[in-house]
This record gives sequence, C-alpha cells and structure tokens, in this order.
Amino acid sequence: MPIKIALTKGRVEQQVVPLLEASGIDCSGIRSKGRRLIFDEDPVYETILVKGPDVLTYLNSGAVQLGIVGSDILDEQRNPQYAMLDLGVGRCRFVLASTSDFDPQQVSRKIIATKYPNITKRYFQSIGEDVEIIKIEGSVELAPLIGLADAIVDITETGTTLKENNLHVYAELQPVSTKLVVNRLALKQYQPQIRSLIDALQQTQGVNAQ
Ligand code: PRP
Repeated sequence: MPIKIALTKGRVEQQVVPLLEASGIDCSGIRSKGRRLIFDEDPVYETILVKGPDVLTYLNSGAVQLGIVGSDILDEQRNPQYAMLDLGVGRCRFVLASTSDFDPQQVSRKIIATKYPNITKRYFQSIGEDVEIIKIEGSVELAPLIGLADAIVDITETGTTLKENNLHVYAELQPVSTKLVVNRLALKQYQPQIRSLIDALQQTQGVNAQ
C-alpha cells in the first residue's frame, strides 16, 4: 500500500514539487498532469491534488496519511493533526489592509472582509475590538474598494495585489508558510517511512525542522 499525500493545488504544488523530487519522489506525473488528480508514478508515495481546505478533510478521515498545506489554513481550521515540518516555502503574511482614507481608530464598528473569519476574529479579540466579519471566497481586495467592508484581513506575498489596487497595510498579523502535516495514526503505522521522508525533506535547501 503506498503512503498517500494530499498536496494543495496551485502555488503550494509548484513550490513543493521540486522539494519532493529532491527528496527522491517521482513527480513526473504531476509535472505533466493535464486534468489528472491521482499520481502513482512513485513506488512509495501516491500523491493526490486537492484544494487547500480539503487537505485536512482527507487527512482527518484517514483517507491520506500526509498533507502539504499552508499554515494559513491550519490556523484557520485549528487543525488537530501534527504539523511535522515547515517546508520553508510559501512564505507570506497576514495583514490588515484598506484604502488610504481608512481610519483604524474609527468610532463605528468596523466591517472586515476576509477568507479567514476565525483568524480575523482572534486578531480583533486579541486587541480588544469587536468587529463585524464578512466571509468572502476570493479577490478580497475588492471589498473596501467597492464599499462592502471598511478593511480586509488577507495574506500577502509579494504585495503586488495590494499595490495594484491602491491598498495600504495597517497592521501585520501572523506569518504563513507551507507545512507537512501527518495523521496521528499514520505516524504510528508508517513511522520509518515518514521519518525517512522528513529526513530527506530536511536535507533539501531551505527546509527547517520544527
Ligand atoms: C492571494 C491573496 C491575495 C494574493 C496576494 O490570493 O488572497 O489576493 O494572493 O499575493 P501577492 O501579495 O503576491 O500579490 P490568491 O492568488 O490565492 O487568489 P484569490 O484572491 O482568488 O483567493
């Protein structure tokens, strides 16, 4: 039985595939994937490509043994699984951002748009502020520009999206990076294989153990 890895599609996938290859995993199928979702070229690890929030659904059910996902999603979902390794890629940060006329001291209750309502709620609780949170699914930067919200809480990597939409950073929240997470039961069942994958990943450039 191969060990199954749920890998987050998109940016995480692009940054992690070179690390998996450097660790000896055959990713040739992922590199030429078309619309395929399951990759069984490697004799030890079978990789499936899923949306970030679904990584934990597969992992928690035991359908996969390992997951590769951003800490933004782990923090938002309060994941009970083990985060074994910071892969040193996908580094970005959470910010509070808005237009130049936003007043962080405004007297009325703020409306904040975000894809991350739990992280947003925890941040404002930590500074003792009660806000209204509107959950949206993407293109969050639009919300203060179109009048849906006073400000946003979102992740920024290069800062390009904020800049090109004339938004400014008003507060820095927590940093984000990509993690290898392990199902607790799988860690017992497949300890030697998982240990050797972690060792191999640690030896690849830029990888830091936790
Ligand atoms: C993320 C995030 C920002 C953007 C920031 O969105 O929500 O919009 O990336 O990146 P930057 O600082 O490098 O410009 P994503 O690309 O995942 O798409 P989405 O807006 O549809 O969620």
